[in-house]
Amino acid sequence: MARQSRIHGVSGRDAGDPTGALLQVDNVSLEYRTPERVVRATHRVSFDLHEADRFVLLGPSGCGKSTLLKAIGGFIAPVEGEIRLDGHRVTAPGPDRIVVFQEFDQLPPWKTVMQNVMFPLLASRTLGRKEAAERALHYLDKVGLAAFADVHPHQLSGGMKQRVAIARALAMQPRVLLMDEPFAALDALTRRKMQEELLELWDDVRFTLLFVTHSIEEALVVGNRIALLSPHPGRMRAEINSHDFTLASQGGVEFQAAAQRLHNMLFEAPVEPRQERLVA
Ligand SMILES: Nc1ncnc2c1ncn2[C@@H]1O[C@H](COP(=O)(O)OP(=O)(O)OP(=O)(O)O)[C@@H](O)[C@H]1O
Ligand SMILES: [Mg+2]
Repeated sequence: MARQSRIHGVSGRDAGDPTGALLQVDNVSLEYRTPERVVRATHRVSFDLHEADRFVLLGPSGCGKSTLLKAIGGFIAPVEGEIRLDGHRVTAPGPDRIVVFQEFDQLPPWKTVMQNVMFPLLASRTLGRKEAAERALHYLDKVGLAAFADVHPHQLSGGMKQRVAIARALAMQPRVLLMDEPFAALDALTRRKMQEELLELWDDVRFTLLFVTHSIEEALVVGNRIALLSPHPGRMRAEINSHDFTLASQGGVEFQAAAQRLHNMLFEAPVEPRQERLVA
């Protein structure tokens, strides 16, 4: 299968996953080890992503959302459990999983917008220069920035920089687009606009999205499914279907009720025992 040959940093079974899941996070525990202590960031977290899902990880600060994305990205290995993409165990980073971060400085400032979007395509030898330029322009056009191809990042607003980062990620045509609070540093109006544009892009391109946020409203608007994580260390508390909600439903009675339910689940649940231990 052509798309299998694009997968890097994955090993294991030959066939795709029999359940049809694109990405499986299976009983995954993640830890940070320092000389003095071991910090458990997530505890036995499981969820599946299917093709064209908009799956949201929602949880309080410190519950391990970014750590989970890093593990799916192949940057850190689980101490327990397994992450599989198309049925193959994730063991290293690869161009099939691209991350968009919160920070505006994720674009090298010495490259133009166009060069920024082309760079991963060239560095991963996905495309030659001419094809990379065409693809970069195609995705810059999709985020409304084709006219800014030749400017440098410092000439762009925060929202525009995030659009470039999204175009750069989509240009790689990853199996999963990973977004870590990509709109959290934007003002409220721009944030809303970016959520709207992301949903329009998804309607157009139908990529598979794993989106991290600690905003309940953003989770309901962006996601079709939401995984709710407990406070540190993150455990799966609930999985919620949210495909009925859009930006237009914000403020409506059902949206408010759903937001309240999520709020209660996040803040009124019993406090979990701390999972930090000293190294013997
Ligand atoms: N490099 C590190 N070394 C040791 N502990 C870390 C490291 N990075 C994160 N942690 C710890 O792991 C836990 C999970 O951190 P993580 O950054 O994944 O949380 P998060 O859910 O993304 O939080 P936020 O919403 O604030 O971004 C936290 O308790 C944090 O202190
Ligand atoms: Mg984080």
